[in-house]
Amino acid sequence: MAEKREHWGSKFGFILAAAGSAIGLGNIWKFPYIAGENGGAAFVVVYLICIAIIGLPVLIAEILMGRSTQRNPVGAFKKLSGSPFWTVVGGMGVLAGFIILSFYSVVAGWSLGYIFESIRGAFSNFTTATASGDHFNMLTSKLSWIIGFHGLFFLITICVVYAGVNKGIERGSKIMMPILVFLLVILLIRGLTLPGSNEGLRFLLYPDWSKISGQAVLIALGHAFFTLSLGMGAMMTYGSYMSDKDSIPGAALQIVLLDTVIALLAGLAIFSAVFATGQDPAAGPGLIFHTLPVVFAKIPGGHIFAFLFFLLLTIAALTSAISLLEVVVAFFVDERGWKRHQAVLVFGSVTFLLGIPSALSYNIMINVQIFGMTFFDLADFLASNILLPLGGFCISIFVAWIWGVDRALVKLKNGAEQFFENYQWRVTAWRFFLKYLSPVLIFIVLLQSMGLLTRIIDWITK
Ligand code: TRP
Repeated sequence: MAEKREHWGSKFGFILAAAGSAIGLGNIWKFPYIAGENGGAAFVVVYLICIAIIGLPVLIAEILMGRSTQRNPVGAFKKLSGSPFWTVVGGMGVLAGFIILSFYSVVAGWSLGYIFESIRGAFSNFTTATASGDHFNMLTSKLSWIIGFHGLFFLITICVVYAGVNKGIERGSKIMMPILVFLLVILLIRGLTLPGSNEGLRFLLYPDWSKISGQAVLIALGHAFFTLSLGMGAMMTYGSYMSDKDSIPGAALQIVLLDTVIALLAGLAIFSAVFATGQDPAAGPGLIFHTLPVVFAKIPGGHIFAFLFFLLLTIAALTSAISLLEVVVAFFVDERGWKRHQAVLVFGSVTFLLGIPSALSYNIMINVQIFGMTFFDLADFLASNILLPLGGFCISIFVAWIWGVDRALVKLKNGAEQFFENYQWRVTAWRFFLKYLSPVLIFIVLLQSMGLLTRIIDWITK
């Protein structure tokens, strides 16, 4: 006999858990550096538009598929379509979950390790980003450090998911998300009160349109997708623990707002401090692990803020990692009849092992290249550039055209009767975006990620 499906204790619990999934390394590590590289405020404006016109509609579609079927991604597609083709699309999501978690936890492990570095006071004497970069390389070349923290992070993730949807994920989110906001506010106040922080504010809030390129728009579009955890069924899985009483449009709107506000606040906190200490805002992926330690060395009380910052980053990563593991676990519980505890232990361990080559990509496997990439870069490329946009494309086509937007709307209305009455135009907009705009835009992102877009444009213009 299968165990009875758990449900969120409240709509608020669901919103916090889903916002926890969305708010992660993407918000605090990736968003600030891509905004920094692509012109600051102008990029932010484009990003907000992408969130509104494709992020939100696809998020609603994913949650709806989960709630209507009460299944993991594979089960959801199977139940709604009855076709093996679409079931494979669900399977692709579960696979993406495995792969993302394997390298995501490596970066999360660095963050966890940096909490200990800041307690040791390791950042107090860096004066240049090169020195802190060397320190980073020294740490990641130590096998014990890199595998140790990767493993420790995994252990914490496994413990939360093991405890179940209510007692683990929901309760964990209710504790961790308020702490996350609290930490961010402290860091924001510290950043904004530094002399010279105004430049940082200007950078993120005053648009320089000359810096916006077609490339920047595609990055914004791709990131809108990644930051909301779309395209692989994480939101579908969380939606499957929802009951028909709660409004999906309302919840989705709150998740999107939380995710966006946190990304912007993290950007403000980081850039105000980066500018106040005269560091480079466009340092790229190294912004967090190379540039920020120098910032912390320069500001009064820096080691305390370093500790708070890496704690923030680790918590953000943890609430995302648990949602990734939950997708895999839900699949084995629903479709294969596994016991939840077994699935968590077995697939938690398997994903940890799969992450080891990614962890070693900064170490003894640095010269092992597959298609010209390290294992870490390959896993990231495969998941973020191929599986997620492909999954998102299939989900929007499926809901809009195969399941059918009208049938979907009937289900969406459950729990959202008020919303449908008051905001008819929004319902019309959702229908339009999901049917036409989202698939087209996501398809363009997919072509771009596979490196095909420029070739097609060259071919057309030749
Ligand atoms: N949204 C997460 C972040 O911003 C990353 C992520 C992408 C993710 N896809 C996911 C998390 C799927 C959980 C599930 O860091």
